Amino acid sequence: MKNATLQKFITHGNQEEGSLIAYEQATGVPFTIQRVYTVFCAQENEERGNHAHRILHQLIFSMRGEIVVHCENQWGEKESFVLNHPEVGLYLGPYVWRTLVYEKDAMIMVLASEPYMESDYIRDYDTFIQERKQVNENSL
Ligand code: TYD
Repeated sequence: MKNATLQKFITHGNQEEGSLIAYEQATGVPFTIQRVYTVFCAQENEERGNHAHRILHQLIFSMRGEIVVHCENQWGEKESFVLNHPEVGLYLGPYVWRTLVYEKDAMIMVLASEPYMESDYIRDYDTFIQERKQVNENSL
């Protein structure tokens, strides 16, 4: 769905010799990377996220284990994505409310288009609904 899509990257090598994946604009990252962060040591079915961003673009990868990402975009569409391999990233654009459910010991890596800015977060769901209404009206 719009602003929440899976994107596949090329894996070099194989299981015997080891594998390598490069993440950069030339291989498909659709923004300039300004920040990389990781989340790990999650408990079984740990739920994180529960927020949206106003301007941030991100690509989320599972580096270990499986993560389910439940998304709702600016237009009210909902879709869930399963991430379980470093070659498939979930691109998330602005105004996507996301909830990440981690299996035990899962680990993600996130590429982000902006430095960390708390003011870019919408952490309250009702505020998200209000703000997206405003954004949608303004873009008419
Ligand atoms: P948060 O984005 O809420 O994590 P999650 O979506 O996994 O629940 O961030 C958790 C804490 O870490 C919060 O206090 C902000 C801080 N943080 C940074 O300092 N820099 C960062 O780049 C990120 C992503 C978070």
